[in-house]
Amino acid sequence: MNQRPTKVVFPVAGLGARFLPATKAVAKELLPVADRPLIQWAVEEAAEAGFEHFIFVTSPHKSAVAAHFDPAPHLQENLSARDNQAALELLKAGLPDGAKIDEVEQAEPLGLGHAIWCARELVGNEPFAVILVDDLVHHETGCLQQMLQAYRGTGGNMVAVETVPPEDTQKYGIIASGRQNGAVIDVTGLVEKPSPETAPSQLAIIGRYILQPEIFATLSAFKKGAGNEIQITDAIADLMGDVSVYGFAFQGTRFDCGMPDGLLAANVAYGLSKDREKTAELRRKLQLILENFG
Ligand code: G1P
Repeated sequence: MNQRPTKVVFPVAGLGARFLPATKAVAKELLPVADRPLIQWAVEEAAEAGFEHFIFVTSPHKSAVAAHFDPAPHLQENLSARDNQAALELLKAGLPDGAKIDEVEQAEPLGLGHAIWCARELVGNEPFAVILVDDLVHHETGCLQQMLQAYRGTGGNMVAVETVPPEDTQKYGIIASGRQNGAVIDVTGLVEKPSPETAPSQLAIIGRYILQPEIFATLSAFKKGAGNEIQITDAIADLMGDVSVYGFAFQGTRFDCGMPDGLLAANVAYGLSKDREKTAELRRKLQLILENFG
C-alpha cells in the first residue's frame, strides 16, 4: 500500500494579469464561482479527498488568499449575537476540523516548479498533492479523490490529464502515453507547452498532481524550461528513471478559470448545478440573455 498523502500545496503567487483591473486589489484566487471564491473550491476538493495540511505558496503581495481561511472574530461575534448559525457555518470556508494551514512566500516569480519547490520544508519527506486553483473540475467525486483512489495502486508521480484540441497543446504540459489501464495511463515522456507539430499527444496535464518528495532535489537544479521558467513538467520528466509517472484521465468537466471566459462559464455551470427549483430564475435570465445578447 502506498503512503497516503496528507499535505496539499496551492501555488497562488500569480499576478492575475488576465483579470485586470478586477485583480488590482483582489487576488485572482478570491474571485468567486457561484457562492465561493476559487481558492475555497480547491480547498474543499482537497478536504473531501482527506487532506489535512494545506500549504499556500503566496507572493509578497498576496497574503489575502490564505487570510480567507483565518478566523474572522468581528463576523463571528456579530453573527453569534444574532444567532445566525447558517452564516456562522459558512465562516469555516470549507476547512475540515483540525486542518493545519501554512503559508510560504515565493519571493520571485520563477515558474510553477519554483513555486512548488518553495514548499519543500513544509512538505518534508513524504508524497504530497498540488492543486492549481485555476483548473476547476466539476464532478460528484472530486478530481483529487479520484486520483488518490488510483494512486493507492500505482504510487509514483501522477498527473491529471484530459484531451485538448491539437492547436491547444502549446498551452499545457503534454504527456507521451503508453499503455492505458482504465483511467490510468503509463507516461513515457512529458513536455511543457509543445507546438502542435512536436506534441507527443493531445493529452494535456490539468492542474492536479500527486508527487513524490524526490521532486524537490530535481527542482533544486533550478533548470529553466519553456518561457524561461522552472517547470514542474520538466522536473517530473527528469525524474522518470527513478520515479514512474502516471496520467489519470479524470471524470468531470474542467473549467479554465485562469481565463475570463472560463471563469464566466464556470459561474453559469456551478450556478445551474443546484436543484432545478432553486435555479429557475437563473435559467429564465439565461434565456433572456441569449435572446437579447446572443
Ligand atoms: C501550468 C503547467 C502546465 C499545465 C497547466 C494546467 O501551466 O505548467 O504543465 O498543463 O498549468 O493548467 P500554466 O497554465 O501555468 O501556464
